[in-house]
Amino acid sequence: MKLSLIKIDATSSKPYHSLMITLGLESSCDETAAAILRKDGDKITILSNVVASSLELQSKWGGIVPEQAAREQLKSIIPVITEALTTSQLTPHDLDAIAITQGPGLIGSLLVGVETAKTLSLVWQKPLIPVNHLIGHFYANWIDQSSAHSSQLTAHASPTFPCIGLLVSGGHTDLVLFKNHGHYQYLGGTRDDAAGECFDKCARLLGLPYPGGPQISKHAKNGDPNFFKLPKPMLNSDDLDFSFSGLKTAVSNLVKQLTAHSSRLTATQIGDLCASIENTICQVLIKKTLKAAKLRNVNNIMIAGGVAANQHLTKQLTAQASQLNAQVSIPPPSLCTDNAAMIAAAAFFLKPLKNPLDLQANPNLSLSQR
Ligand code: KG4
Ligand code: ZN
Repeated sequence: MKLSLIKIDATSSKPYHSLMITLGLESSCDETAAAILRKDGDKITILSNVVASSLELQSKWGGIVPEQAAREQLKSIIPVITEALTTSQLTPHDLDAIAITQGPGLIGSLLVGVETAKTLSLVWQKPLIPVNHLIGHFYANWIDQSSAHSSQLTAHASPTFPCIGLLVSGGHTDLVLFKNHGHYQYLGGTRDDAAGECFDKCARLLGLPYPGGPQISKHAKNGDPNFFKLPKPMLNSDDLDFSFSGLKTAVSNLVKQLTAHSSRLTATQIGDLCASIENTICQVLIKKTLKAAKLRNVNNIMIAGGVAANQHLTKQLTAQASQLNAQVSIPPPSLCTDNAAMIAAAAFFLKPLKNPLDLQANPNLSLSQR
């Protein structure tokens, strides 16, 4: 079959800046997601937002098994797209474009979304817009929160440029200076484990299920955040980098000490450990984020990624930023973890590909690429 000979009019139907209704697809890890968003002037609204997660399956193994995650993606991709269309009461004909996560992520999972999006782009004759998953996370901040059915509505306006962005997810901890849409500069990031990875690994050491972030956050409510003194590597380093692997090692040693004469940790110990871990990770994230804002003389900050759902982080960051007269934009928790709404939102500010067949999934896509 000579797919490359199929001629489609993917870019000429409308210029990208007037694309109004976009179907976003996300399949970089263990979530299979489809969402339909509308852009009306500056307002970006969710019409439907469907996420199927193989998390329950993955949590049995204490983490993600890539092969299994890819198989689950295959099972879910068509049902989530169908549901997104049904919920929004739209047909493929109503769509102006399809947006897809190109990378980074697990190659097997990414391929499912990318190849599905390419096929739909050809069959439905819609422009295809590739989105970097990391940049996509930040665009959750541009979505109108009243359309996200959030129980935690805050006064929300889209971030204003220039803006410091902190991305904190399971695989990434990065600080980025956004000068405008499509114009950003990497400022620093983790040299080893990501913040979410640290939450996940510490939770595992405490015998808590995957994903560890929400678990640690839940148990932290019963603990004393200053009970255990844990290391804060690179807290005072001159750069804007992070390091979290030493914290995980310290927690491992502490757990060994605490359980030397008893078989398991007590509920009080778990509470104090969780509160101390959460507080330590958040202190480092906040200090470096505010340092970036001061260094670059910027008073707008946005956070994104799964760890941005952490309430201790958002409360502390907002309070400390206000002392510097800085505004913090925070997506509702449902848009912090992986979803397709953020991918569709980012695509409103990107150009479609000339030829959808050119798109290749890229598991190693970095922040310096599209
Ligand atoms: O952005 P995300 O859904 O997936 C990646 O792209 O990695 O982030 C998942 C990460 C996991 O490490 C999870 O433990 C963490 O986000 N996370 C949290 C919270 N909710 C999710 N970490 C701390 N507190 C939370 N409430
Ligand atoms: Zn993510």
